[in-house]
Amino acid sequence: MDRQAIRMAVRQRYARRAQGAGCCGGETIPKVSALYSPQEVSGLPSEVLAVAAGCGNPTAIGALHPGEVVLDLGSGGGIDCFLSAFRVGPGGRVIGVDMTPEMVELAERNRRRLGLVQVSFVLGILEALPLASSSVDVVISNCVINLCPDKGVVFREMARVLRPGGRAYIADVVAREALPEAMRRDLASWSACIAGAEPMDRFLALLEGAGLRVHCARPQGPECAEGPGPRVSPVFSLEVEARKPL
Ligand SMILES: C[S@@+](CC[C@H](N)C(=O)[O-])C[C@H]1O[C@@H](n2cnc3c(N)ncnc32)[C@H](O)[C@@H]1O
Repeated sequence: MDRQAIRMAVRQRYARRAQGAGCCGGETIPKVSALYSPQEVSGLPSEVLAVAAGCGNPTAIGALHPGEVVLDLGSGGGIDCFLSAFRVGPGGRVIGVDMTPEMVELAERNRRRLGLVQVSFVLGILEALPLASSSVDVVISNCVINLCPDKGVVFREMARVLRPGGRAYIADVVAREALPEAMRRDLASWSACIAGAEPMDRFLALLEGAGLRVHCARPQGPECAEGPGPRVSPVFSLEVEARKPL
């Protein structure tokens, strides 16, 4: 598949979502209320909740401590950045990176609304992160890596920016088994968080191959892909905690 075509299709889909056009049939994205407790999200603007497009809650996979630096890969409307900011406090720092300008603008608008000075949003791609090596305590990501054709490159970038001993909390979509070639070639399925899903074993092997140690991997059931089509979805969500060795 043409990597540029995939990136353009993904960017277009999430630009439309940021602009309030909803999304686009074959939807794989569960509701916020299925992923976060009402207490967690009660202080967040409705616009942030409306565009949230995760398949898990990376901020619940492991602890975030006051003063830590957190990087959110594919931050979208910023939901996980804002929840992280409440945990790391004013002495910490949260950076959200996303390649869709409309999402970065929406997230920044809501950052100002919330008055969270410790949060910043940066336009960039996961395959070439605009951050210094070993500069981050925790990387989080929610339903984004499946959208990247070069997962090995993304995991190597993740390992590069994490400090030794740093943690990664990842919620993402993986496949029950290798997906049929016709599905892998369908751009709409790519941007709908289906076609880019790798089988779980391969996803974890790519993480390990990038130098990160998988501490825990928990399948989260089929709720991430309840769109039209076969009753048993070919993909499911997975929560992973990995660490960069000391
Ligand atoms: C399914 S949404 C998830 C957004 C957010 N994590 C959430 O939970 O609401 C995917 C986001 O990842 C971004 N994205 C996808 N591929 C990316 C890449 N290679 N580099 C940077 N951002 C990317 C998209 O622009 C979109 O905002």
